Amino acid sequence: MQAFRASILHLLDDPTKSGEAVAFHADGLLVVDAGRVVACGDHAELAPVYADVPVEDLSGCWITPGFIDTHIHFPQVDIVAAHGAQLLDWLEQHTFPAEAAFADPDHAKEAAGFFVDELLRNGTTTALVFGSVHKGSVDALFAEAYARDMRLIAGKTLMDRNAPLGLMDDVETARADMESLIADWHGKGRLGYAVTPRFAISCTDAQLEMAGQVLAEHPGVWMQTHLSENPREIDETAQLFPGATDYLGVYERFGLVQKRSVFAHCVHLQGEAFQRLAAKDAAVAFCPTSNLFLGSGLFPLDEACAHGVKVGMGTDVGAGTTFSILHTLGEAYKVGQLRGAALDPFQALYLATLGGARALDLDDRIGNLAPGKEADFLVLDLAATPLLARRLAAAKGLEDRLFALTVLGDDRVVARTYLAGVERHRK
Ligand code: GUN
Ligand code: ZN
Repeated sequence: MQAFRASILHLLDDPTKSGEAVAFHADGLLVVDAGRVVACGDHAELAPVYADVPVEDLSGCWITPGFIDTHIHFPQVDIVAAHGAQLLDWLEQHTFPAEAAFADPDHAKEAAGFFVDELLRNGTTTALVFGSVHKGSVDALFAEAYARDMRLIAGKTLMDRNAPLGLMDDVETARADMESLIADWHGKGRLGYAVTPRFAISCTDAQLEMAGQVLAEHPGVWMQTHLSENPREIDETAQLFPGATDYLGVYERFGLVQKRSVFAHCVHLQGEAFQRLAAKDAAVAFCPTSNLFLGSGLFPLDEACAHGVKVGMGTDVGAGTTFSILHTLGEAYKVGQLRGAALDPFQALYLATLGGARALDLDDRIGNLAPGKEADFLVLDLAATPLLARRLAAAKGLEDRLFALTVLGDDRVVARTYLAGVERHRK
């Protein structure tokens, strides 16, 4: 057993729905054993109970749950900050050439190690990840996450049309690759597999049908794709699927909308479509830095939440411009401002932790520091930059401090990252 003394902040529920959601222990104690949380609360209360347990004193720091990134692309680490294009041109000019390089297993292995370490350096302890079309890239990514005992869900990207030749699969090889990846990795350690059709434009009917079949044959496997991100993308999808009711209808037709399905972006979705997502218990990944960077638009978070859709935060690297979920929350606030709906700081932290866990249907295991949960947590240095230290010294209470942390904080704040009670990053 180990214990950590610090201020502890986590969410026990959605703060927009419950007045009891925020748990803050100014002088707190987190007790961990065998990779799980044993106790979390006030130091004064817990210290006598766990008097024999060695305590590390981190007073002055905050402990929070690890962040959850519900949408990110592993083979796009080399094209973050590519100038000048919106979605479809960006894919063609920058993304597809970068992803083609992942046919090389050595490149995939090197990038996978970098990618996983960069997640941990930024305080992300769980991620839902797009691989490239190549099975080997996903093997490489899972191997690096497994070596660090990280909870990570990933899939081979499916694309059998509208992509360069070297970057396309076909229905039968894709099915075989997925079956083999699921057999090798799904449920191994803390890993999970996600069926990953890139988006409707890059998949034929036959491939989407196969994706739906594989999903139905493997209960517990996740599904991830893109939905309603950019006006030209939406138009082209309508032309490719003239029989579909709308963009979401394409995925519905092939059985891809269910619990454990995560749809990235949904920037241009309307109320009725959000209702259909909520009715199926599917989730949305809100990716503000990507939506701003590609000029995709302003995600209506308030509307999605009003319809009861589960939402998590996504960095969407490489259209997204940071691995930092903290920085992503600051940008989410600015998107809300442009829509006249300011994001509450506690809701922001909820989306990055327990909300993300609910979006991934993993809230029985991760998302906060309740006893029994996996001990994925962060030690945050609130004096990581001179400006942050000064601003927090002047802050007026917890909410104001948390808000300043999301607007001014990033990887510099993450002093340590723990996975299942084991330190995996120290600044
Ligand atoms: N739509 C289809 N592929 C992609 C991708 O790689 N990134 C983003 N942001 N949108 C997509
Ligand atoms: Zn994406």
